[in-house]
Amino acid sequence: MRRFLLIVLSAVFLGGVGFWILTSPALFHAVRGRAVTLPDAFQADAGRGERLFWAGGCASCHKSEPSDNKVLLGGGHELKTPFGIFVVPNISPHPRDGIGGWRFEDFALAMREGLLPDGSHAFPAFPYTAYQRMSVTDLADLFAFSQTVPAVEGRQAPHALAFPFNIRRGLGLWKWLYLDGAEFSADSSQSALWNQGAYLVNGAGHCAECHSPRTVLGGLSPDKRFAGGRMPDGGAGRVPNLTPHQDGLGSWSLEDIEEFLKTGFTPSFDSAGGSMAEVIKNMGHLNGEDRKAIALYLKSLKPLPKAP
Ligand code: HEC
Ligand code: HEC
Repeated sequence: MRRFLLIVLSAVFLGGVGFWILTSPALFHAVRGRAVTLPDAFQADAGRGERLFWAGGCASCHKSEPSDNKVLLGGGHELKTPFGIFVVPNISPHPRDGIGGWRFEDFALAMREGLLPDGSHAFPAFPYTAYQRMSVTDLADLFAFSQTVPAVEGRQAPHALAFPFNIRRGLGLWKWLYLDGAEFSADSSQSALWNQGAYLVNGAGHCAECHSPRTVLGGLSPDKRFAGGRMPDGGAGRVPNLTPHQDGLGSWSLEDIEEFLKTGFTPSFDSAGGSMAEVIKNMGHLNGEDRKAIALYLKSLKPLPKAP
């Protein structure tokens, strides 16, 4: 009996040590992280960064509630998920309550590795699984832009998550499964426009985050990317399939997709609702070439039936 107890206790102890090691932010950074190095003589440009701010939909989540001003980034929007409620934080340049005191390295680490300056893991409700694809120069421009908007005072309430999802440390395991740490790499067999679209869709645009089904652990399965998903707020209805299958955008022309991204009207004159209406407003800040690039990329996806 004593021997059995000893075995159980050692197993629990070793399990605990294993958990502690595997969930370590420092270990994750050492294995999947990348050094934050900008090219020599690179000057961050807030003007260029603004395009990435809209492409990235930062305001859709981070704008001050209930204000309509998209560059007041005081947060407060609540994301209702199966794991609980996330209260989006203040990322305005306020030195105490926002990210005004952050260095660019801190920002790059958060965007690419989901690591926060206090050494903890960030929750993937912040879509860094997509933002990790952004280039370091684009991140520097985006950071420069984020420092030009007004500072907003006030910190948001903590998230209201169910156990065990409220334990940040545990996200370390999730990241080994769903965060590969890789930047976007261009496909030289495709055109420059196609690559521009692939970069916008899979990087800043984080389109797959809503338009794909999720596993029970809340990750995306690579073989069902873009096949449609559940409403991000858990509401009724489905997020449509974006692949060129008959269940998806199969009957849409390139121009139909461009037009939709610009105006929110589908070929059958429905207008985009819900969270997509916000995405459309953001897409309106991009230029025609960006929208064309996105359309071109979506039309080239592997056709998949809509996810159950
Ligand atoms: C789908 C909603 C969503 C979008 C879109 C989004 N974020 Fe966030 N963001 C969050 C949530 C939720 C957190 C809190 C994560 C946590 O507590 O671990 C967060 C955290 C952050 C943080 C860390 C803040 C802190 O004090 O810890 C930064 C920086 C950030 N986001 C920047 C951005 C930028 C820049 C963009 C646009 C490119 C963006 N976010 C888009 C939801 C979002
Ligand atoms: C926050 C979640 C979210 C994100 C991010 C998102 N979408 Fe959507 N999208 C939706 C929802 C919800 C709908 C359905 C809107 C409706 O039914 O009115 C939709 C509809 C669409 C449609 C119309 C499809 C159809 O069959 O009617 C297209 C095209 C589309 N999205 C493209 C994109 C692209 C491109 C991106 C990335 C730049 C993107 N979406 C990012 C939620 C999202």
